[in-house]
Amino acid sequence: MIVYSLKIGSIRKETDDAVTLSFKQPGLKKIKYQAGQYLTLIFRINGRRYIRPYSFSSTFGIDSTLDVTIKRVPGGIVSNHILDVVKEGDSVEVMEPMGDFIVPVADKAADKHLVLWGVGSGITPLYSILKDTLVNHSNKVTLIYGNRSHSTVIFKEALEKLKKDYPDRFTCIEFHTRPEIDSAGTHIIEGRIQPSKAFEYIRSVSSIEHTSHFICGPSGLKDSVKTALAETHVLSDNIYSEDFEIVKNEEDFKFIQTQSIRIRKDNEEFTVEVIKGKSILEAGLDALIELNYSCQTGNCSVCKGRLIQGEIKTIGVKEISKDLIENEYLLCCSYPVTGDVVVEI
Ligand SMILES: Cc1cc2nc3c(=O)[nH]c(=O)nc-3n(C[C@H](O)[C@H](O)[C@H](O)COP(=O)(O)OP(=O)(O)OC[C@H]3O[C@@H](n4cnc5c(N)ncnc54)[C@H](O)[C@@H]3O)c2cc1C
Ligand code: FES
Repeated sequence: MIVYSLKIGSIRKETDDAVTLSFKQPGLKKIKYQAGQYLTLIFRINGRRYIRPYSFSSTFGIDSTLDVTIKRVPGGIVSNHILDVVKEGDSVEVMEPMGDFIVPVADKAADKHLVLWGVGSGITPLYSILKDTLVNHSNKVTLIYGNRSHSTVIFKEALEKLKKDYPDRFTCIEFHTRPEIDSAGTHIIEGRIQPSKAFEYIRSVSSIEHTSHFICGPSGLKDSVKTALAETHVLSDNIYSEDFEIVKNEEDFKFIQTQSIRIRKDNEEFTVEVIKGKSILEAGLDALIELNYSCQTGNCSVCKGRLIQGEIKTIGVKEISKDLIENEYLLCCSYPVTGDVVVEI
């Protein structure tokens, strides 16, 4: 895993609770990434190391800086640290770009209509994909974007400009749960994103079979869009989504109890209590073991560890990562089933 130290060139306020950090590219060799990928930021806060992934809002080849846009999560450790403490000129350690929420080559075919579904900070990877598609390809793109009101819309002005620059190829359909009067006169649909209303528009410009869908937002959005798409002729192969956090289902924890396990790392052995509901990764971090991780959603494989003995259950991931060999587990999604678990990093 390559780790860089990058300097924050500027911090731009997007809304009252979201900022964009613009990192300067390293002088010698630029960091390359694809639209839709993320950058993992590493902070030391009160002596403890915290690692969080943030999707690029910049687009390689279009923007000269590496930009990530962070929305404050109430009570969140790193997002509040970034909004309240981090300043221009600070250096931040970052991991090399990762992530597979990218537009596959087949979906860049000119007859494909890309439909981007986003709510709140879920706009970030979609904005990078949007710019890449409009500037470097010829597809039509529709952004279906949900927010509370105008004042919480991230990239509002930049999106208005893209609408003017690409009037034949880019459309934005906005849903606001608490609409306000907008001086720009933007057309807003009241309420949460309703796929059926968005489909009405899409059908008026494209055949729905030629659409590919990219979803980034809370799990409710993903579920409602996927359910609605299942009733159309869009193949599941043409639906992609990015999760910012895992939603844990209580049912999955039925047979899990608090367990005391052992974690071996760098020739040391730690005994760690894994409280019911916490993953082995979370329990290890709470015990101040410096474990590596990034996404915490079972996507990046940075947190993998080897099960030496005992039984572990994987919860929250639909597909087991192909990066894993026998007895390897993603510790961010692993929960001990027995009390004799030993894991080696
Ligand atoms: C692949 C990926 C890309 C991401 N890209 C972005 C991005 O571009 N912009 C951005 O702002 N965030 C993004 N995130 C989320 C980000 O990594 C952090 O999870 C988020 O900033 C919260 O971290 P925290 O330390 O402030 O909160 P924590 O201290 O980790 O969490 C505090 C509480 O908030 C809940 N929580 C955690 N994340 C969220 C969330 N996103 N929304 C609501 N509640 C949450 C937790 O369950 C916990 O209860 C991304 C996450 C992933 C996995
Ligand atoms: S931290 Fe990314 S898979 Fe576990």
